[in-house]
Amino acid sequence: MKILKVCIIYDTKRGSTKQIAEWMKEGLMDARILVDLKKVDRVDNFAYDLFVIGSPIYWEKPLKSVVNFLSENKDKFKGKKVAVFVVCLAKLFGHFTDKHVKNHYLKPLKKKF
Ligand SMILES: Cc1cc2nc3c(=O)[nH]c(=O)nc-3n(C[C@H](O)[C@H](O)[C@H](O)COP(=O)(O)O)c2cc1C
Repeated sequence: MKILKVCIIYDTKRGSTKQIAEWMKEGLMDARILVDLKKVDRVDNFAYDLFVIGSPIYWEKPLKSVVNFLSENKDKFKGKKVAVFVVCLAKLFGHFTDKHVKNHYLKPLKKKF
């Protein structure tokens, strides 16, 4: 059986996105999946089966560091599985903000693929 290798990539300003990425890593490791956790400016290897890439939202946008990372490495993700996530406060308002989160927070990341 092929062993799945996952790379979780994040940036953070105040630490919560890093904490959430660490919890994701723990969950995947419990499922015996190989996981590397990398800050966005420390990624030097693209030999993974799945990338999970996350950014906090500040002033209605994901961090430039994450958006730029995706633009600069577009070709390296070709044919790879990529999941994106954001960490934000908007979800505190329940489903009323679902559309906003999708269109304004996730879309700038998803449209890079
Ligand atoms: C100055 C500032 C601006 C923020 N702007 C938004 C925003 O536009 N939308 C939102 O949903 N959350 C916003 N947040 C909440 C952050 O996304 C949230 O605190 C997140 O956990 C920060 O992630 P980090 O700790 O990884 O930096 C803002 C927080 C701060 C401090």
